[in-house]
Amino acid sequence: MTNQQSASPQHQSVTVVGLGPMGLALAGTLLEHGHPTTVWNRTPEKADTLVTKGAHRAETIAEAVYASPVTIMCLKDYETMYAVLGSAGDALRGRVLVNLNSGTPSEAHAAAGWATERGADYLDGAIMVPPPLVGHPESVFLYSGSRDVFDAHRTTLASMGDPRYLGSDPGLSVLYNAALLNMMYTTMNGFLHATALVGTANVSAVTFAELALGWFMPSVMDSTLTEQAPDLDSGNYPGDLGTMEMNLNALEHITRTCVEQGIHSDQPRLMQVIAEQAIAEGYSGKNYLAVFEVFKKATRTP
Ligand SMILES: NC(=O)c1ccc[n+]([C@@H]2O[C@H](COP(=O)([O-])OP(=O)(O)OC[C@H]3O[C@@H](n4cnc5c(N)ncnc54)[C@H](OP(=O)(O)O)[C@@H]3O)[C@@H](O)[C@H]2O)c1
Repeated sequence: MTNQQSASPQHQSVTVVGLGPMGLALAGTLLEHGHPTTVWNRTPEKADTLVTKGAHRAETIAEAVYASPVTIMCLKDYETMYAVLGSAGDALRGRVLVNLNSGTPSEAHAAAGWATERGADYLDGAIMVPPPLVGHPESVFLYSGSRDVFDAHRTTLASMGDPRYLGSDPGLSVLYNAALLNMMYTTMNGFLHATALVGTANVSAVTFAELALGWFMPSVMDSTLTEQAPDLDSGNYPGDLGTMEMNLNALEHITRTCVEQGIHSDQPRLMQVIAEQAIAEGYSGKNYLAVFEVFKKATRTP
């Protein structure tokens, strides 16, 4: 019996393509919610733990897409989605594609057209929480595209978090994503730079966070940064939930979105340059807070 045949309406079978930190969290959560889950990843071993929990590992991308009425894509970017689905043949016809990678509105529009040409219904989306918060009912997931498709699959989407429908323009999710992440990175950089500044007087990140976060920070950043301040003091930046490379990719999407939308792009571009510098200094596989190491040094002269 295939996953598709065995699913109840409340527990529709789902395919997840892409098992980076976020795809692993999505697939694990769907399994926990009782959805028969098929997975595919370029590096198949990343599915090993999911398979022990009941996931089906498809041998090919076509088999993965055929296995479920809905395929959730969680890859690096749109180009990767095309590269991966290129060998899916006719499998997309009559199925729903939900794409959750970050990107720009024009890339989302192109992807919607690409899916339609292949006979698939398409929803674009964006995930507004880190992997550990996937599955919490208040974790915001943004969707845009066909209202009918969204309504038909709302129950499945709700297994991953709080599904918010933004409108029929498929580019709206990535546009909101770029706007919200721009706000997040600006806030985070403000704290990290300020911590580097007081650090010149040997004030620890933990000491500074206690005063600074209570004084200014919005509550969501407050708890994240309070928990992670000891990592700044110890220089420990584990990248297992998201790497500097992934964050640079997101910053590059924000810059390009500002250019596409015709607004000023210097601020996100500067954050992009700083993340590139962190990568050049060896923090590619570390988490975003490693930009603190860049801030602690004098600006490089050209
Ligand atoms: N992690 C987070 O905190 C977070 C939060 C919100 C949204 N997101 C978004 O979620 C998406 C996925 O993020 P992520 O953190 O899971 O990691 P990621 O590094 O952005 O993406 C990793 C996935 O992309 C695949 N991939 C990369 N290049 C490929 C290629 N040339 N061919 C085939 N597959 C390729 C990887 O396959 P391999 O395993 O084979 O390398 C893996 O499945 C991104 O768009 C990101 O912006 C992430």
